[in-house]
Amino acid sequence: MGLKRLLLKPFSGYPGGYKKMRRGFQGFDSTPPFKVPDDPKDRRSRIPPTGFREYWYPALPAKDVKKNKPQVLRMLGTDVVFFKDKQGEIQALLDWCPHRAVYLSMGRCYFEGFLTCPYHGATFDGDGNCVAFLTEGPDSKMVGAPGMKARKFPTVTLKGMVFVWMGDGEPVAPEEDIPPEMFEGHNICRPSFCMFDCNWVLVLENTMDAHNAFMVHRNALRILGSRVGGRPRTPLGYRVNLVNNKNVHYRPGSGKSSTERYYYDENGKIPYQMYYPGVDGVWPLHRWRLAWTWFFEWKARRKGQDPSMRRAAAADTPDVNEWNGTKLPGMSRTGGNNRYFRSTRWPVPVEENLTRMVYLNVERYESQPGFLRRLVSGATWPYRNWELNFNFRNQDYDAEKYTQYAMPEYLSSTDSVVVAMRRLFVEHARDVQRRRAREEELPEALDETEAERMVREGDARVAEASESFDVDRLEDELLRRV
Ligand code: FES
Ligand SMILES: [Fe+2]
Repeated sequence: MGLKRLLLKPFSGYPGGYKKMRRGFQGFDSTPPFKVPDDPKDRRSRIPPTGFREYWYPALPAKDVKKNKPQVLRMLGTDVVFFKDKQGEIQALLDWCPHRAVYLSMGRCYFEGFLTCPYHGATFDGDGNCVAFLTEGPDSKMVGAPGMKARKFPTVTLKGMVFVWMGDGEPVAPEEDIPPEMFEGHNICRPSFCMFDCNWVLVLENTMDAHNAFMVHRNALRILGSRVGGRPRTPLGYRVNLVNNKNVHYRPGSGKSSTERYYYDENGKIPYQMYYPGVDGVWPLHRWRLAWTWFFEWKARRKGQDPSMRRAAAADTPDVNEWNGTKLPGMSRTGGNNRYFRSTRWPVPVEENLTRMVYLNVERYESQPGFLRRLVSGATWPYRNWELNFNFRNQDYDAEKYTQYAMPEYLSSTDSVVVAMRRLFVEHARDVQRRRAREEELPEALDETEAERMVREGDARVAEASESFDVDRLEDELLRRV
């Protein structure tokens, strides 16, 4: 005990006083355990804590699976082991030896293309068949025994990334679940990863929540890049659309522009600081960020003039398809169909309280990019990756981590996208559709909730607020954003 503490003891009681363990054993750094609400009428109660299984998910870069050593990943609560088969293709098996249940991932590939269990030497091919049982000799009856088949998960490798079908049912074509740019000829995918110590759905709901930008992201480089803070401050939610029951997208003709019009002043500018009478103050508190905003604005304007970077006039409207917005089983995507760069943020559930963030960052090329192009994009990638995926996207981490999902909520129309997303998930996920097709008993369909009613009514207000503005000027203003 330090001297100061010793002297203070008579005043404060035990060292640390009430501040010690003020949040019980949980502490301030640890994630509250994930729990969905008990109320069966709350759509959140129907979200599976370890994710929807009947989908393809991104796993790991193919180059990390070496010839003689398997790799393991926990995905959706299931341990999956990856190794290379005879053809050099990456295969995935359940990380469980059918003999006496040891982890196969602790074994090795002594024979090229086969994985050997570290306990008694059961050796498996890419389909999970036992092809040798080393400790029983060549005559072992374990070879080829149906009970000795390891469970296989179908895989596909695209642009250097391995994807796995996690479902129990028949896999769908990978094109249905994996972003289209992963199939296009000359594109370069630069994946990046990090771990979030919280549930996957908290991550996804946060991604859909554009209104946190002026709070959480006010110091992010890309938000400093515009006077409007990159995202709206309005009491109006985005109007949203379900596309083919697979995806939630901002509704054509509304999106950011119409909701943002709400606070435009006479000069056609959104004021940087706004006055809040309830606290007799402005937010943001200071204007010092504007000291460099001019620079980023200038940069963004230049970028807007470069035709290769400029979005097509109609990018926000007619080409709404199921690959823009948030798509099942849980990816959210930036950029439009006509963009040179698209990034998919894909939270892959590991456990209830742990998520592997996979960013599929894809540069799109119509023909093989030249050496110089590759050199420049390769050399600038570490900065671009940091700026988007870490400087900006990681700022939400604390909010995601400390969301107490089982608690009641009081939503606003600015939560419209989150509300729509929940509905998409619990009603249209493939897991649910397949159960429906098998005529399994499903929980009763829910009526429109209070939050959903608010979203619907908020929609009408958005439409109304959109009427009185000069759309062309506004589009121009928005184009100058980063
Ligand atoms: S447990 Fe794998 S071979 Fe015995
Ligand atoms: Fe955010």
